[in-house]
Amino acid sequence: MAKKLSKRLLAIAEMVDPGAYLADVGSDHALLPIHLVSTGKISWAQAIENKTGPFLHMQSAVTDAGLSSHIGCSKSDGISSLYDGVDEIAICGMGGLLSCDILEAHPEKLTCIKAIIMDPHRDLIAVRKRVTALGFHIADETMVNEDKVFYSIIKFVKGKPTTPYTNLDLSFGPVLRKKRGETYERWIALQLKKTNLLLNQPLSKEAREHYLAVYRALRDELKANQSDSK
Ligand SMILES: C[S@@+](CC[C@H](N)C(=O)[O-])C[C@H]1O[C@@H](n2cnc3c(N)ncnc32)[C@H](O)[C@@H]1O
Repeated sequence: MAKKLSKRLLAIAEMVDPGAYLADVGSDHALLPIHLVSTGKISWAQAIENKTGPFLHMQSAVTDAGLSSHIGCSKSDGISSLYDGVDEIAICGMGGLLSCDILEAHPEKLTCIKAIIMDPHRDLIAVRKRVTALGFHIADETMVNEDKVFYSIIKFVKGKPTTPYTNLDLSFGPVLRKKRGETYERWIALQLKKTNLLLNQPLSKEAREHYLAVYRALRDELKANQSDSK
């Protein structure tokens, strides 16, 4: 029987377009493609791993699920060996900066890619900037909290943003800032509290300036939420 997906992986699965040909980069136990193919949301996937142990787990999970004819398993680095026809990429469960390095290593492989789904829980500004620079815009975002970690799940879609992202958009997510939701509000309030605590500690001049800027951005975001909801 297919394993139950975590809240985070379910939110990622939600963002995959029905009928997509998905490459799941760093697939580990191939939970995402197995779920998507076995529920019929997609028919074909490529699961990719660059390490022998996870590759072998992934291969046996796909075989055990009886899906070897629908999910191809590749032992390769990042997106270096995408199958022809792959049109969406999930690159989840690894650092945001590493995920960007993987995408930037083969820009030519992104020509036929319509969407990229990522779930960085840090380095979000860099992720939003770097993937946008590869010719994508942020079409959807959601935030989930699992095991005390807040994950922003971002769906990038091919094409430029209609208007350039502001600093607040890059920090908090242009779509999340509009959609908000209880998890997002909780995250902003928590970040504000943590930054305030840091500002009450002895800090170098540079660190104080940095955290003051973060504090102001968070406060502006909270204010924007409050004035919009009036
Ligand atoms: C923590 S697992 C994430 C599994 C799953 N994607 C998820 O979101 O739960 C990260 C996986 O990425 C794989 N990985 C790291 N760098 C990679 C690369 N350059 N190419 C392919 N896989 C990579 C690791 O071997 C590891 O199994």
